[in-house]
Formats: sequence, C-alpha cells, structure tokens
Amino acid sequence: MAQIIDGKALAAAQYDAMRLEVEGYASKYGRPPGLCAVLVGDDPASTIYVRNKENAARKVGLYSEVHRLPAETTQEELLSLISRLNADSRIDGVLVQLPLPDHIDREAVIAAIDPGKDVDGFAGMKLGITAGPDTVPPCTPRAVVSMIKSTGQPIDGAHVLVIGRGMLVGKPLSALLLKENATLSVAHSHTKNLKELSLSADILVSATGHRGLVSGDMVKPGAVVIDVGISRTPEGKIAGDVDFEAASKRAGWITPVPGGVGPMTIAMVIRNTIDCAIRHM
Ligand code: GUN
Repeated sequence: MAQIIDGKALAAAQYDAMRLEVEGYASKYGRPPGLCAVLVGDDPASTIYVRNKENAARKVGLYSEVHRLPAETTQEELLSLISRLNADSRIDGVLVQLPLPDHIDREAVIAAIDPGKDVDGFAGMKLGITAGPDTVPPCTPRAVVSMIKSTGQPIDGAHVLVIGRGMLVGKPLSALLLKENATLSVAHSHTKNLKELSLSADILVSATGHRGLVSGDMVKPGAVVIDVGISRTPEGKIAGDVDFEAASKRAGWITPVPGGVGPMTIAMVIRNTIDCAIRHM
C-alpha cells in the first residue's frame, strides 16, 4: 500500500515556519508582508479559493486585503485597481483570481501586475521561465515539486510524466521539473501511448480535471503519484484524475483529493508573498 502524501499536514508545517518568518519580518521592517487578492464576479470555486487564501494570510499574520468586484467590472476599472495596488507599499503580493469574465483580457490583466508583486508567478511564465531573479515560481507547480521532495525520492534523473499542458500547471511545472534535472515526458489529449509512458514513470503528475483518467494499472509499482486534478463526481463529491483506490495499491506514495495538492497550493501563495516581500527590502 502506498504512503499518503498528506497535503494538510505538509501545509501546516509550512504555516508554522512562515508564522515565525512573518514575525521576524515585521519586527525588522515595522510591518508584515501584505497580500491582496482580487475576485471579479462570483464563480463558486473562485470564491472558495479566495476565502482560503485570505484565511491562510491571516493565519500567518500577513496584512491581507480582498477586493470583491462585481462581474460587470470593466477592464479599465480592474487595471486601475491593479495600478493602485502596485503602488501600495503595504502590499507585496497581488493576485487576480482566474478565470476572469469573458469581456476582460486575461493577458492584459496579468501583464499589468508588477512582476515583483506577482505571487501567482504568472509573469515569468510568459517568458517560458518559471522564476527569474525578480519573480517567484507559480504556486501549484511549486506545491507539486515540494510534495515530491517530501517523499525523499530524487527528481534528478527520474522519469517524470506530466499529464496536462495548461498554463497554470502543466507548462510551468514542466519547466520547474527540468530545472530539477528530471527526464521529462509531457502527455496531453493527443498522446497515443499514455499507458506505456506512465508505466515507465518514476513520478507521475496528472493535471487534467478528467476524473478516472489514471487507472491503477497505469501506475509503475513504487511510483510517486501526484494528483492535481479537481472535478466532481455525479454525487457532487470532489475527485481527482487518479483512481485512488486502485493506484494506491501499486504506488509508493500518492496524494489524496481533496487534502493533497490543494492545501499546499494555498500555502505556496503565502510562501510566494513572503518571498516577494523579502525581495522588496
Ligand atoms: N485559478 C485557478 N488556479 C489559480 C491560481 O493558481 N491563481 C489564480 N490567480 N487563479 C487561479
């Protein structure tokens, strides 16, 4: 049976360490690092994510602001808010929760965020890099790498299969894993030999949102399995991409959904805010 990679426990350990860091920062610079989240509209999942980020920020003692704007907010109004936040010295991290309403140009909004305050790490992604000297890595990929490392299994030289090539996870995660010297395969909807690839993967990361895509017989015995997928069962329960029951009989380590990557992603938003704040000093 696989060992569970417990995202809640890993996140709790991160929060304990970050609380002390925030205290130290505040006593040195006279203010805590600050995070501002912007939510446009009332998408139910986004509403929950933003609330979780706000709670996490409070938990470690950050200065925290949330701007909840109506769905009819114009792009101009949003850009003008971002420019005020860019100039606000209490705020080290600005995040605009995605997706945005259709009438707003996502790329223009991301581009408007000061790269030094871009706690989502979206700025560097445009350049095909995940983090430069002035930017932080995106939160979910950072969470995934941290969770793989928590198993003690080396990424260096391992065959890592990433299923999914999206802008939020697959692409930036691939770049981070290459930086860790993984031998990387990236699979997507056009991939023909998915099972063949997955059976040779020492580390398998799935980020598609297709429930049940990764069956137990696709897992290499002893592999590390990280499930980034989020979807709902017909009964309304949250589920990942991986058939957890079957896969955990073969994997060496596996993340649950919920309670896996999700809580660690939120912790990485806070981590990135502190990292941005440190760079601002
Ligand atoms: N929507 C889904 N994932 C994310 C994320 O990581 N950051 C933001 N800002 N929005 C998201």
